[in-house]
Amino acid sequence: MEKYQKVYRSDYEQWYRDNRNYREKVKNAPGRLKYHLMPETGWLNDPNGLCQKDGTYHIYYQYTPFEPTGEIKLWGHYATKDFIHYEDRGPFLFPDHDYDAHGVYSGSAFVENGTIHYFYTGNIKLFDRDDYDYITAGRGSNTLHFTSRDGDAAGAKELIFTNRDYPQDVSCHVRDPKVFKRNGAYYMVLGARDRESRGLVLLYRSDDLKNWKYYSRITTKEPFGYMWECPDLFELDGQLCMLSCPQGVGPQGIDYRNVHQCTVMPLSCDFERNSCEIEEEKIRMVDRGFDFYAPQTFCDEKGRRILIGWMGIPDAEYGNPTVEDGWQHALTLPRELHMKDGRLIQTPIEELNMLRSEGYSYESKEELNEAGEEQLVFEAEICFHSSNDNSCDDTVIELRKGTELIYSRRDGLLTLSLKEGGYGRTERSVKVEALRNLRIYSDTTSLEIFVNDGEEVFTTRVYGKRGGFRIDGGCSAKVRIYRMNSFIIDREPGRPEAEKQKGLCAIGEALIDFIPERKGQRLKDVTAFKRAAGGAPANVAGAVSRLGLPARLLTKTGNDAFGDYLIECFTAAGIDTSFIKRDSIKETPLAFVSLAEDGNRDFQFYRKNSADLFYSPEEVTSEVLDGCGILHFGSVDLVESPMKEAHRKLIRMAADKEILISFDPNLRLSLWKDDVKLKETVLEFMPQADIVKISEEELEFITGKTEIKEALPELLQGKTRCVLYTRGRDGAAAYTEQWSVSRPGLRVEARDTTGAGDSFTGAFLSRLLSYGITDITEISIGQMEDFLDFANAYAARTTMAEGGLTAMASKQAFEEWMRRK
Ligand code: FRU
Repeated sequence: MEKYQKVYRSDYEQWYRDNRNYREKVKNAPGRLKYHLMPETGWLNDPNGLCQKDGTYHIYYQYTPFEPTGEIKLWGHYATKDFIHYEDRGPFLFPDHDYDAHGVYSGSAFVENGTIHYFYTGNIKLFDRDDYDYITAGRGSNTLHFTSRDGDAAGAKELIFTNRDYPQDVSCHVRDPKVFKRNGAYYMVLGARDRESRGLVLLYRSDDLKNWKYYSRITTKEPFGYMWECPDLFELDGQLCMLSCPQGVGPQGIDYRNVHQCTVMPLSCDFERNSCEIEEEKIRMVDRGFDFYAPQTFCDEKGRRILIGWMGIPDAEYGNPTVEDGWQHALTLPRELHMKDGRLIQTPIEELNMLRSEGYSYESKEELNEAGEEQLVFEAEICFHSSNDNSCDDTVIELRKGTELIYSRRDGLLTLSLKEGGYGRTERSVKVEALRNLRIYSDTTSLEIFVNDGEEVFTTRVYGKRGGFRIDGGCSAKVRIYRMNSFIIDREPGRPEAEKQKGLCAIGEALIDFIPERKGQRLKDVTAFKRAAGGAPANVAGAVSRLGLPARLLTKTGNDAFGDYLIECFTAAGIDTSFIKRDSIKETPLAFVSLAEDGNRDFQFYRKNSADLFYSPEEVTSEVLDGCGILHFGSVDLVESPMKEAHRKLIRMAADKEILISFDPNLRLSLWKDDVKLKETVLEFMPQADIVKISEEELEFITGKTEIKEALPELLQGKTRCVLYTRGRDGAAAYTEQWSVSRPGLRVEARDTTGAGDSFTGAFLSRLLSYGITDITEISIGQMEDFLDFANAYAARTTMAEGGLTAMASKQAFEEWMRRK
């Protein structure tokens, strides 16, 4: 995306469609956080527009999806009801207007009478002269307003102020409007820099949220930095206070050591008399870590004042290794604010306790020398007590290898020290008279440390990868450690329509396989069977859906107990069953299987009056292929029947929509009156598929050849561009008109080969879907090798457990198994 060009939603959507690989790369990057909000790709900075409406929390943020250094700013959008499950609703606000063409900068939301009012800064950089300093000239900082009722659909942008409307002595830097209400009037604070480079906040007033009048300014008596960004003014437990981020305040001992600061200032204001004084001796830093800036607060529907900050800092002298992986920065955990004895208290909101999984505690009365949590992702609560009071003398807490929290009671100092993985961050300290307790949130690459019930907080990114929590020193303490679950983030809602993950549509038989309880008997001798949901197309759909992609099945079952059971199994496997029809007259088909010692099988079918064969073309409605990227079918349901016609119709529809078609002959000779008819049917349908999967045993029947190479001309007919040739445990090969590749199978102890071929096909098709492959000739040789290995491994894994569908591993379990191999 070019610098300083307007970005329209359609530009973003096009970019999104073209950059699937970028998203995959970021998704799999090692430093991604488990329970913090990050940009899906690219850059994130300030939280914006925080609010709650009708139960839903809206968390917008400064966002550059295109690259990780943050050139042009959009607003991203997460929505949540519980701070655990989130919807990534994609970009909300674009720099697409003459007033904001070089970035929709930070702003806030204010909910009034069922409407969310947004106020933000439209950033403009002029390029018509060379001598612009962009401080006193060459920059536009427009204040804009728009509304939304639901947090998603935004009304038109309206201009409130341009630079001409701000006081004369103020530079071009005016931004980050935040609105609040007091005594029936609305007020807006705006961060500003005056022409003498003093930081200040401008205060405006309005009676209707539309017409705003300059009211007063808030600043310190002596200059305190050159620019105050992101002001936020609110009352907290009876105390009026202002958060803001003064830039350019130099270090003072252990204070103000970051390049820019974030402070809390108690205020005494008389809004009727137009005066607002800062209680200067009470100004404090909000956070003591390396990465905390631009926080914003809002009052939720429960009346809590919640703060979320940017876990990063602008113009920082240190770097983040995540840039190489295509992303940078995150938001802090949400914190509830209180004011106690004139001090800001921050505590993680209670919803975060729901992230806790296993926990364990230990107590050390004498001395703590315990090695604890080996992981990076945990929460730790530590309560200190010594013989004479509830605090600690000296301690060193190792949070992960090379990251320490050091307390010395004599010096009254608590220090965070990063000896490993700091990437330029080294040490920060805070004065602590008595260390009573700590609450530590450690994520893969971040730390938030709440000291003494939230009187002080250290927020920082850290990249040390070696876990190892341990406490040394002369304090006794009660320690409780929890492993933490991840946020659950649904990114679908923010995807451009065309980009929704495409799924599989499988059509054909669904039946119950009855498998002998004991192996190695002939079918005639088996006395007890176990049931297993199956049917080749159902198994293929099951594999796709177990591997985490959408899959739907088109079939018909009897309106009987067996049909109920099938639907239950399919639903449990995640298959979309909404297109499965039921029939009160016909029956759910059954198959009885005998299992040899080596896992091979023999079938006897009960499908004389089989419901699936009565799925009619009329039941193939126009929406059955919605959201589908691949259609898959076999030969079992191609016997003369309404179902055969349903296949014909569906295949035609798929071809019209340019949906990939996959065919697995899956020959079941016993189901056909004569072999000739079966062969004829296979030869009729096969050329209509883009991909044909054929097994060693089927080759000769279909082509009359025993060598795949010789059979190819007959297989690569009509539309068919790719033949997958499976050789059971010996692996599989792929043939196209241009090339072929062959991959060995994975040797495992097979228990039951039911569904092995289907799981191969499902796994292969799932790769095509997740890579968005719509034209089979576009697959590279390397990709094909990867896909075959994946499918071979998944099939091997399926043979290790009994049954077809039930033996298929979930994506997570499969990946876990592969890692252990
Ligand atoms: C703070 C800030 C704001 C500005 C925004 C631009 O980090 O500089 O003042 O509105 O970021 O992304």
